[in-house]
Amino acid sequence: MIPDWITSKEINHRQKMNTKPFPLPSKPTLKKVSIAQTNAVVITIINSKGGVGKSTLTIEIYKHLSLLGYKVEVFDFDKQQSSKIWGDSSGAMFSSFNPANRSLSDMACHLKVNPESEYILIDTPSNFSDTDLTRFIRFSSKILIPMQVSNIDITATLGLLQRLTCHSIVKQKCTDIAIVFNRCYPNDPQQTKAKKVISIVKKVKLLGELSNSREIQMNTNSCYKEAIWSNIINWMIN
Ligand SMILES: Nc1ncnc2c1ncn2[C@@H]1O[C@H](COP(=O)(O)OP(=O)(O)OP(=O)(O)O)[C@@H](O)[C@H]1O
Ligand SMILES: [Mg+2]
Repeated sequence: MIPDWITSKEINHRQKMNTKPFPLPSKPTLKKVSIAQTNAVVITIINSKGGVGKSTLTIEIYKHLSLLGYKVEVFDFDKQQSSKIWGDSSGAMFSSFNPANRSLSDMACHLKVNPESEYILIDTPSNFSDTDLTRFIRFSSKILIPMQVSNIDITATLGLLQRLTCHSIVKQKCTDIAIVFNRCYPNDPQQTKAKKVISIVKKVKLLGELSNSREIQMNTNSCYKEAIWSNIINWMIN
């Protein structure tokens, strides 16, 4: 469903901007399987801090992986549905799923995925409880954290890193955790500070910086190219 606020003018504009479209997924032909049984790499995009770029990064990753020919599925766990709405308006068929009040076995029962999917991206809401955190990461082998580099963001992300690194599921599954600095400005000393602080947390990898960009805000169907993408893609496919 395309939301009412996206006018046909906007859709035409998106189509014009869409110089290098990602391939649209074909309809799944096989019976869906539980997320607990998928062979896909499941990646949760998460930060308890709001507005840091979780949905934007989810969409950009979707576009990059799809362009590389991977079969990618996206689940939006956020009631706000930012990535789901983008998916609907772009024909990308993102799904929404509300994990609230569900047990993990109930999630395994109801969170069904295409058996052909190679990557499953989970976009999450901000400001969640520990119980929700468990629901968000239970089925993931990788966790990607977009963060901005202000002092407020550094403090908030450090808190999340502490919650994650001592989480029983992360320990048990040896879940990979990586960080992307988002909305960066060239030569910003805050980046150096953020890098230093993050380096204290062992086993967490910094993949690089995404710049603050008008182009990325446009949310077109084209991929936004930056050097960091080879790091992000390598981290996801290895
Ligand atoms: N690299 C970027 N350059 C410019 N603007 C960006 C960038 N990344 C994100 N934004 C903008 O920042 C705002 C917040 O982004 P987004 O909605 O992706 O964050 P979020 O973490 O998903 O937020 P929420 O916590 O509400 O779910 C949006 O207006 C988005 O367009
Ligand atoms: Mg969001």
